[in-house]
Amino acid sequence: MYWRLLLLTSLVTVVSTVRLRSDQPTKDWWEHAGFYQIYPRSFKDSDQDGIGDLNGITEKLPYLKDIGMRGFWLSPMYKSPMADFGYDISDFRDIQPEYVTMDNFRRQVAEAKRLGLKVILDYVPNHSSDEHEWFLKSAQRVAGYEDYYVWRDGKPNPDDPSKPLPPNNWLSGFRGSAWQWNDERKQFYYHLFTAKQPDLNFRNPKVVEEMKEILRFWLDLGVDGFRIDSVGCMFEVLPDENGDFPDEPLSGTTQDVEDFAYLEHIYTIDRPGNVEMVYEWRKLLENYRKEHGGDTRILMTESWSSLDIIKPYFRDIRGNEGAQMPFNFRLITELNATSTAYHFKNVIDSWMAIVDENHTANWVLGNHDRSRVGTRFGERRIDGMAMVELTLPGVSVTYQGDEIGMTDVDITWEQTVDPAGCNEGRENYAAKSRDPVRTPFQWDDSSLAGFTSGTNTWLPVGPNYLQVNVKVESSNPKSHLNIFKALMELRESDTFLYGDWRTIAFNEQVFVIVRDLPSSSTYITVVNLGNSVQIINGSQLVKYIPKALSYAIVDGLSSHNIGDSVNTGSIKLQPYEAFVLEAKRPADRMVRAVICDRWLNF
Ligand code: NOJ
Ligand code: MG
Repeated sequence: MYWRLLLLTSLVTVVSTVRLRSDQPTKDWWEHAGFYQIYPRSFKDSDQDGIGDLNGITEKLPYLKDIGMRGFWLSPMYKSPMADFGYDISDFRDIQPEYVTMDNFRRQVAEAKRLGLKVILDYVPNHSSDEHEWFLKSAQRVAGYEDYYVWRDGKPNPDDPSKPLPPNNWLSGFRGSAWQWNDERKQFYYHLFTAKQPDLNFRNPKVVEEMKEILRFWLDLGVDGFRIDSVGCMFEVLPDENGDFPDEPLSGTTQDVEDFAYLEHIYTIDRPGNVEMVYEWRKLLENYRKEHGGDTRILMTESWSSLDIIKPYFRDIRGNEGAQMPFNFRLITELNATSTAYHFKNVIDSWMAIVDENHTANWVLGNHDRSRVGTRFGERRIDGMAMVELTLPGVSVTYQGDEIGMTDVDITWEQTVDPAGCNEGRENYAAKSRDPVRTPFQWDDSSLAGFTSGTNTWLPVGPNYLQVNVKVESSNPKSHLNIFKALMELRESDTFLYGDWRTIAFNEQVFVIVRDLPSSSTYITVVNLGNSVQIINGSQLVKYIPKALSYAIVDGLSSHNIGDSVNTGSIKLQPYEAFVLEAKRPADRMVRAVICDRWLNF
């Protein structure tokens, strides 16, 4: 009787399955994109000076295509004295001479378009360089420019009246007071980052307009969107009636009075104006598209704050739309080599809880400011982390080199150039320096890793470049690179594009992601986070699961092969082993369609 019922309903199920496929809502180009972050100084040098440049990037764009990327975001390539390696911009409309010319940039955009790659630029509204024309004019009080930056009188210094004290206790993210004396103007200016990065005054409508013009300038050159730097830092609290800013309270977390963490940044970070500004930029992008046509232009925002702060960057309760991609850094900030599967589940589920049905999740696993994936999680977990990132729903963001398993490079104090490290001094530089993650990209096993044909590089090449490089890994099917590529390909399939998702902590050590779509295969990502053998029963993960599953992707040291089958009731994982399993039994789907309306049972 049961089987007859099943047979009768099969036809209906097949028909509805077909309908379901064509019913999938179409996705905008960015909604399932893989983005690649390029750090221009370290990607590829084309002119032998040991510093990456635009032509180097252009030459390597086919590589991005080859690894399945849809677009890339470029850390700043604008004109800069390089106090913060490009995040100190002296001309928002020009190219840094080391990275060569505007024509090179035009060629890069044209080549990207030819390859179908989208170009996202880093937009740095919070500050300029102190060598920017606006700052020079502001320091001289040139009419119209007086209020382009955040200037304040000093406080009287009882010990030395000729040397006023900073206006208040605000600190720089790179150590010490956030106030720098300017002798020309005889006032202090506020700088959240280095003293060579004065904060622009976003309370000045002229600054707001200037910065909008800069967006239009790059849109006219054909870029597809922007990553907004330090978005939570643009607005400071409104001053009191005397024009004074209040001191920030002590955080109580450190005794180090110069450390940024010494204060609670209630007056300088995450002020309400920031997100309002993002809504305006979103409108600008939408209007630009209405006028000029073309695909959606997108915004990515850089905020490391808590989820309640991040959520309105998507949209607010009044319906203002913000960034399509408020960066989700939680795989970086909340997880590491000691995290359990319960942590993983919690971190992922809590992020998904702020993404409503009209918005799209994104996953950032690394960038130029934080320790690399292989160093944070341990090299043995590199493939497993790629599986986690790339089998979750939505957009992925990969920092250059993570796909081949580059790790942090030891940099001596003498070699250190990052201001975040230099300002800490010889004893402590290593805790804050970002140089270890910014070393030259490892292309091949020739000298200097194929990054340059010159004789030196601006930061040393990682010592593991003989094994960890694109050329060697390309010819090894079990390399990080080939596993990464296989994952990028897999995530183009319907289940990953449109499927439901669930995370499961099977126990402390085994973390699972299930992706399911009624009309396609179900995929189960299984990651053993720990160093003991684990055996799991697949039928406890997914209801009506077939008796046998097959390996769709396996980590580089796994003894299994793609396509091998595994008994669902007893899935064995070696220490740190990770794989993606596939369940493809249409017959089971039909049973499922008859008996229950959902594949998953949670
Ligand atoms: C965030 C950037 O990612 C970082 O590299 C930079 O130092 C600061 N913003 C200042 O622009
Ligand atoms: Mg060069």
